[in-house]
Amino acid sequence: MTVPPEPTPTLKQLLAFYLEAGVDCALSDEPVNRLEETDAVPSPAPRPMVQPDPPRPMPAVPRSEITVAPEAAIASAREAARTAPTLELLRSLLENFDGCALKHTATKLVFADGNPEARVMFVGEAPGRDEDIEGLPFVGRSGKLLDRMIAAIGLDRGKAYIANVIPWRPPGNRTPTPQETQICLPFIRRQIELVNPDVLVTLGNPSTQALLGTREGIMRTRGRWFDYDTGTRSIRAIATFHPAYLLRSPSYKRMSWQDLRAIAKALQQAAAS
Ligand code: URA
Repeated sequence: MTVPPEPTPTLKQLLAFYLEAGVDCALSDEPVNRLEETDAVPSPAPRPMVQPDPPRPMPAVPRSEITVAPEAAIASAREAARTAPTLELLRSLLENFDGCALKHTATKLVFADGNPEARVMFVGEAPGRDEDIEGLPFVGRSGKLLDRMIAAIGLDRGKAYIANVIPWRPPGNRTPTPQETQICLPFIRRQIELVNPDVLVTLGNPSTQALLGTREGIMRTRGRWFDYDTGTRSIRAIATFHPAYLLRSPSYKRMSWQDLRAIAKALQQAAAS
């Protein structure tokens, strides 16, 4: 029996397929056929018997593929972040920082939202699609829930400061690589130091592990108090569920409410001391 050939998908069907697979942004203006990149994995060059040709010029590399050696990028991030005396300068240092390839695929830098004088600072993992478009953290569905969580303890964005460990959206919302996290870490650390809140709240496991150095999952770390050392001061820090997780698993909202009450209490204590 002959199997009828698969019908060729329409452009609309192809785009829907890509979107479902998480491919929702283009990395360059021209398509690249990776299968034709014959020299992607260079084979060992034979020993020259005669004087080799002079080196040929390097092929142009699209901006989206420029990478800096991770160690060099981490060192330059540390140096840049260390020298930023204000949040405005830290932001402009990030705008000009070329050590993280995510910058070249993102639409906008997502630096922060809220009040830099706030006594509480919330830190998520990385911006998503809505945040990338607006250039502000937590403005999509999970952001709306974060607003309700903050409102539950009598605050709003005018009384809280919100940022992410990674300030650029990873393409297709993929998980940031450990290297990308390490490269961006000095900037968020300096941001925390400059905001200098009384209470730091890490939202979800990635930002908890990155900032509080934990190895366990969020189920074990949430609701626990940590001392976050800025280098100049120790700040009370607590981990709680990421709002995107609560949207998927609403039954954990009860535990999240307990964490929010603990945060409100710590803020009252700090204000009274
Ligand atoms: N998730 C995050 O961790 N940060 C955002 O800004 C949005 C969604």
